[in-house]
Amino acid sequence: MTEVAGAPNGWLLQTRDLTKRFGGLVAVDGLPLALRPGEVRGLIGPNGSGKTTTVNLLSGLYHADGGEIRLRGERIDRLRPHQIAARGVARTFQTPKLFGSMTTLENVLLPALAAQDRGDRRAMSEVRDRARRLLELVTLDGRRHAPAKELSGGQSMLLQIARGLMVRPIHLFLMDEPFAGVHPTIKDTIMETILRMNQEEAVTFLIVSHEMTTLRRLCRRVSVMHEGKLIAEGSFEEIAGHAAVLEAYLGR
Ligand SMILES: Nc1ncnc2c1ncn2[C@@H]1O[C@H](COP(=O)(O)OP(=O)(O)OP(=O)(O)O)[C@@H](O)[C@H]1O
Ligand SMILES: [Mg+2]
Repeated sequence: MTEVAGAPNGWLLQTRDLTKRFGGLVAVDGLPLALRPGEVRGLIGPNGSGKTTTVNLLSGLYHADGGEIRLRGERIDRLRPHQIAARGVARTFQTPKLFGSMTTLENVLLPALAAQDRGDRRAMSEVRDRARRLLELVTLDGRRHAPAKELSGGQSMLLQIARGLMVRPIHLFLMDEPFAGVHPTIKDTIMETILRMNQEEAVTFLIVSHEMTTLRRLCRRVSVMHEGKLIAEGSFEEIAGHAAVLEAYLGR
């Protein structure tokens, strides 16, 4: 087991009062979210509760209107997406953002090439070995020369995951609905990949999903959002009996 990278005061990621508004709508409303190094956390909540917006804030795609985000103790909320990625934060998108006419392998190599352009001194052979190993892990190695646009939706998600894992050193992987509309076989591969990377490389995961049975197999703790706020947090057993959670899901 890899030693977990330093996290002052015991948190890998910590947000305080995180807030994002779209006009009059408060999509993320004073969110306090804290992840321990090496944990796999679920993030759930009804449609429109602010989960994707949270992931967009954490990955730097959106800038917060208030509050702060710390990664291993350091503020990252003023950084641009590539700077956050360079600090070891990867993400997937609900709708895959891939380069369709490039091959599967080229898509995986892309972040490493961009990092080299910015001065990363990793040897190309090491980068290629890592890319091949990750493609094997996500069962796409046989398709490495195929253009990304020929992949199915589920395979595109696998490719996004392999590409994210090229970020070195990787501390945190943010996944937005990785299981949505994905074939059960691929779902198993995604779960296996998450668990392996968590065990072997101590990668911390924040997984947004509506699939409770899948999340239950991956996460010990879940955070629940409703109307931009964190309304509950704990084990599945704890949140299942939580009145505010039932109300958020069943409506009233
Ligand atoms: N770019 C945007 N511009 C304006 N409003 C937005 C934008 N992105 C999100 N919103 C709004 O913010 C709220 C939170 O949206 P968000 O996508 O974060 O929810 P979600 O929890 O990911 O929902 P879902 O489960 O449906 O994916 C919604 O009311 C949504 O309409
Ligand atoms: Mg969403």
